[in-house]
Amino acid sequence: MKMGLLIWVLSAVSAAALLSANALALSQDGETLLEIKDALNDSRGFLNNWRVSDGNPCNWTGISCHFNDQRVRSMDLPYMQLKGIIPPGIGKLKRLQRLALHQNSLHGTIPTEITQCTDLRALYLRANYLQGNIPPELGNLSHLTILDLSSNSLRGSVPSSIGHLGRLKFLNLSTNFFSGEIPNIGVLNNFGNESFTGNLDLCGQQIQKPCRSSLGFPAVLPHEEADGPQVASKRSSHYMSGVLIGAMSMMGLVLIALLIFLWICLLSKKERAAKKYREVKKQVDQDSSRLSKTYTCFL
Ligand SMILES: *[C@@H]1O[C@H](CO)[C@@H](O)[C@H](O)[C@H]1NC(C)=O
Ligand SMILES: *[C@@H]1O[C@H](CO)[C@@H](O)[C@H](O)[C@H]1NC(C)=O
Ligand SMILES: *[C@@H]1O[C@H](CO)[C@@H](O)[C@H](O)[C@H]1NC(C)=O
Ligand SMILES: *[C@@H]1O[C@H](CO)[C@@H](O)[C@H](O)[C@H]1NC(C)=O
Ligand SMILES: *[C@@H]1O[C@H](CO)[C@@H](O)[C@H](O)[C@H]1NC(C)=O
Repeated sequence: MKMGLLIWVLSAVSAAALLSANALALSQDGETLLEIKDALNDSRGFLNNWRVSDGNPCNWTGISCHFNDQRVRSMDLPYMQLKGIIPPGIGKLKRLQRLALHQNSLHGTIPTEITQCTDLRALYLRANYLQGNIPPELGNLSHLTILDLSSNSLRGSVPSSIGHLGRLKFLNLSTNFFSGEIPNIGVLNNFGNESFTGNLDLCGQQIQKPCRSSLGFPAVLPHEEADGPQVASKRSSHYMSGVLIGAMSMMGLVLIALLIFLWICLLSKKERAAKKYREVKKQVDQDSSRLSKTYTCFL
C-alpha cells in the first residue's frame, strides 16, 4: 500500500517534470526560426502561429521537419509579402534542405552563413530586392540542385565556384545586374540563355556572346582594378601618338615656310641683282655713252 503510493507520487512528479520541460523548452531550431521571424516584417501575420510556447516548430506555417529528429527540413514562405533581411542565423538550421523565400520584399545580401546549411538542395530567392554579390562560398553546398536567384538586384561576376556544384540541375540568374564573363567551368557549361537573360553586361560562350576584353575596346570590365592601368597606358599611348603627329606636322609646316622664305629671298635677291644689273648696265651705258661722247669728242 505504502509502496504503491510512493510509486504513484514518483511517477506523477516525473511526468509533471517531463511535461513542464516539454512545455518550456522550444527546440533549438524553433529558437532559430523565431530569431529569423524577428528579422522579418510580417505585416499580414502569416507567421502568427510561430510561438515560443510550442515544443518544436514542425507545425508552424511553412515549416516541415525531418521525421526522426524533428529538425527543420524545409522553410517554404513564398508570396507572403515579407519584408526585411535573411539573417545570418539561418546557418544554424544545419539540416535544412529547402529554403523558398521567393516573391517577397526581402532586401540586404545573401548571408554567407547560409553555406553552413550543408544539406541544402533547393534555394529559391527569386523576386526580392536582394543586393550584393553571390557569395563564392555557395560553391561549397555540394548537394545544391536548384538555385534560383532571378529578379533581384544582385551584381558582380558569377563566381567560378558555382561551376563546382556537381548536382546543380536548375540555375536562374536572370534579371539582375551581373557582369563579366560567365566562367567556363564545370556545370556552368550546362546552362544557356534562359539562365542568364536580363543582366547588365554578361558575356561568355553559354550565351553566345564573346567577351571582347582582349581585342581593342573591352565590352566589359570584369576586373576594374586590373583593367585600370591597361586603359591608362592605352590612353597614354594614344596621347603619345597624338603628340608625335602634332610634332611631325609642325615640322612639315616649318619646312614649307622655310622653303617659301628661301624662295622669296632668292626671288628678291634675283630681282635686286637684276635691278643692280640694270643700274650697272645703265651706268655702263651712260658711261659708255659718255665715253663714246668723249670718244666722239676726242675723235
Ligand atoms: C511593416 O510593414 C508595414 C506595411 O508594409 C509598415 O506599415 C510597418 O511600419 C512595418 N513595420 C516595421 C517594424 O518596419
Ligand atoms: C499539428 O497541427 C495539427 C492540426 O493543425 C494537430 O492535429 C497536431 O496535433 C499538431 N501537432 C503538434 C505536434 O503540435
Ligand atoms: C568554401 O568555399 C570557399 C571559396 O569558394 C573556400 O575558400 C572555403 O575554404 C570553403 N569553406 C569550406 C568550409 O569548405
Ligand atoms: C528565369 O527567371 C526569369 C525571371 O524571373 C524568368 O522569366 C525565366 O523564365 C526563368 N528561366 C527559367 C529557365 O526558368
Ligand atoms: C542566345 O542568345 C544569343 C544572343 O542574344 C542568340 O544569338 C542565340 O541564338 C540564343 N540562343 C538560344 C538557344 O536561344
